[in-house]
Amino acid sequence: MTTDLALDGIAPGLTTTRAPFIEHAQASGQLYIGQPYELYSEENHRTWSRLLERMRPRWERYANPRFLEGVATLRLDPNRVPRCEDINRFLEPRTGFSAKPVSGYVPAYLFFDCLKRREFPTTITVRDGASLDYLPEPDIFHDVAGHVPMHTDRAFADALVRFGQFAERAARRAGEITDEAERIRVLTSNVKGLARFFWFTVEFGLMRESPGVPIGPGHVRAYGSGLLSSYGELEHCVESPQVQRVPAQTEWILNQYFEIHHYQPLLFVIEDFEHLFYLVHDLERRLDAGLLDNLQPGEPDVNEVDLKSFLDAAL
Ligand SMILES: [Fe+2]
Repeated sequence: MTTDLALDGIAPGLTTTRAPFIEHAQASGQLYIGQPYELYSEENHRTWSRLLERMRPRWERYANPRFLEGVATLRLDPNRVPRCEDINRFLEPRTGFSAKPVSGYVPAYLFFDCLKRREFPTTITVRDGASLDYLPEPDIFHDVAGHVPMHTDRAFADALVRFGQFAERAARRAGEITDEAERIRVLTSNVKGLARFFWFTVEFGLMRESPGVPIGPGHVRAYGSGLLSSYGELEHCVESPQVQRVPAQTEWILNQYFEIHHYQPLLFVIEDFEHLFYLVHDLERRLDAGLLDNLQPGEPDVNEVDLKSFLDAAL
């Protein structure tokens, strides 16, 4: 299919800001797609190479050891954009996870559902080489170099699967509420809580460097993909005295708003991935007990697409 599209004159280049193949897939309603590898331009490969090369020394210094083991397991090519099928050959035997190419934003309920099935929705475009440092949406460097190495770790992968199961629980609870306005209110609060939990753990989580060490500057390691795929913020989150590093507590995470367009001023620190699994278990208990139904308002907003994806599953 992908080769046909290339032959049909779809312009080469899978750059986040201009990728005719992706636009075509979106316009025809295809969310789950292949990875038309032949469409990557030399510029895309060069950008990947530059991103990986400059990040490696920072990973060595600031990433948690399980992430570094994951990077080694995946054998990322320093010169070429990774092929998802190659990644999956090394990943699936470890934890059953696979990287699943998508054409763009995955509505929240579907995203959770993928995690439950050990599939990780994966962006296949590469950021523009002129903006290596920051982009608000994910690209393949964020998804494959930032997220996927953690999926090689069994404790982390199991926590992610368990988390993925909560969408169904939230939808089922909402489905039992007969008053429509109340159903939407509760569901919005629940989805906000799940999004905050994901943000402060999977995307921006820190881990104590070693047992008993105070969690001040220099003594934490990153496991969140938003940190691990950001050259500037990876150093900042570990070293800067301006960052508030707080021992992870479920109820605080759930009520803490966040903004996406600047370095995070407050981050939560776990002890290890067994601790993360415990937090996920605690989240489940709180969800079932209705403790996510009245969370503090504020960011993130729950958009209509995400809410609808849950409502469709609830009814
Ligand atoms: Fe992410």
